[in-house]
Amino acid sequence: MIGPVAVILAAGQGKRMKSDKPKVLHEVCGQSMIRHVVNAAFGAGVSDVVVIVGQGADQVKASLAGTPNVHFATQERQLGTGDAVKSAKAVLSGYTGPVMILVGDEPCLRSGPLAELLEKQKATQVACLMGTSIVPDPSGYGRILRDTTGAFLRIIEQKDCTPEQAAITEVNPSCYVFMAQGLWESLEEVIPSNAQGEFYLTDAPEILQKKGHEVQAIVTLEPDDILGINTRQHLAEAHAIMSRRILDKLMDDGVTIFDPKSTYVDSRAKIGADTVIYPFSVVDGEVTVGKNCRIGPFALIRHGTVLADGVEIGAFVDIVRSDIGEGTLVRHLAYLGDTEVGKRVTVGAGAITANFDGRHKQQTKIGDQVTIGAGSVLVAPTSIGNRSKVGAGAVVTPARPVPPDTTVVGVPAQPIARSKDNDGRPVDPEQPPR
Ligand code: UD1
Ligand code: CA
Repeated sequence: MIGPVAVILAAGQGKRMKSDKPKVLHEVCGQSMIRHVVNAAFGAGVSDVVVIVGQGADQVKASLAGTPNVHFATQERQLGTGDAVKSAKAVLSGYTGPVMILVGDEPCLRSGPLAELLEKQKATQVACLMGTSIVPDPSGYGRILRDTTGAFLRIIEQKDCTPEQAAITEVNPSCYVFMAQGLWESLEEVIPSNAQGEFYLTDAPEILQKKGHEVQAIVTLEPDDILGINTRQHLAEAHAIMSRRILDKLMDDGVTIFDPKSTYVDSRAKIGADTVIYPFSVVDGEVTVGKNCRIGPFALIRHGTVLADGVEIGAFVDIVRSDIGEGTLVRHLAYLGDTEVGKRVTVGAGAITANFDGRHKQQTKIGDQVTIGAGSVLVAPTSIGNRSKVGAGAVVTPARPVPPDTTVVGVPAQPIARSKDNDGRPVDPEQPPR
């Protein structure tokens, strides 16, 4: 491994979540907490990540399977954070560079402050550099003790604090950079002599310092970055923090969002400039939206959907796993699932694709410049050729896909004859068959 490397602790169950799944697999803005932390670590410049798994190990591994440069180490019994880090020793054998240690239950960590921490450690070559944070409410965190000159003394866990120590607002977010050798040496000396009877990683910096190595603690993280998730309430807080960051970034990039409070956009979504999102709209999952689109109010755009430039999605529209071509209008109350839609199509109010045949999802293909009438049902798999029209209330069946330049009406939908107007030009009256 080239390094620097990151070790992310994720072996605990998270009892207070009252959940069957491991804590780090709960999602914030569409991705698991562990995925967010892994992304932050790579974003900060590490070459490799070692995730410590234990409770629900198979599920955690499966969730990150196939991610390049992610390795796993198993902590058989959850004896504490110090023991958890030790489990990474075999995977990192032979590696002597900086090791950043993070915890998997702080999903709002941003890569910027972590990169800063790595750079400072590189510049100073201290044995241990800790990022700390000053928070309005320190409860639950380990506190940072400093001497009268402000130099780092040690970390003390809340459960081991005196009332005076408990009042300290500088806390330990569990973001450390250790040089590998000192880390392994100090962990050998950690003993479980504390209120919880656990091997505390938080003892390692003090041990190093006492052995004559240099240890520093610097305030680098914002309170929002270090929000640790222990309960569903914390999960909701993290969601609010991350959601606001996502929307702020989109607004910085030229997207209009009228009401951030009622708008939700997934952390993986991409949205082009000059797109306007009206209130109560949800962009959920891996979705790409082009430039100059209009979404909502009350629209739901779900995973696997791509909207080209200039698409308009009206009120109460639900779209999933669909590709919508340039300049297409999907009016109110429509549902499109597993559908490829061409350019400059109009999908009328209440039109839907019936994309589930009871066993499988089925595809619908709609060509360019098609008009889909209000209240029509396209029973998949089926297709509508370029420039065709589907009359209001028609039901297009798999047995009778619509060819190009054809108008169909009725149930099941059938072509109606074209007649010519007085000038000999063809017209296609949208009337039911006689
Ligand atoms: C830890 C720190 C505390 C810090 C806080 C917030 C210690 C002793 N305390 O406390 O100073 O303020 O994080 O960052 O380190 N884990 C394992 N194996 C274990 C135990 C824990 O992998 O044996 C993992 C958990 O899954 C979790 C992370 O380590 O992702 C932190 O553990 P947690 O029990 O939440 O520690 P805190 O009590 O929050
Ligand atoms: Ca925690």
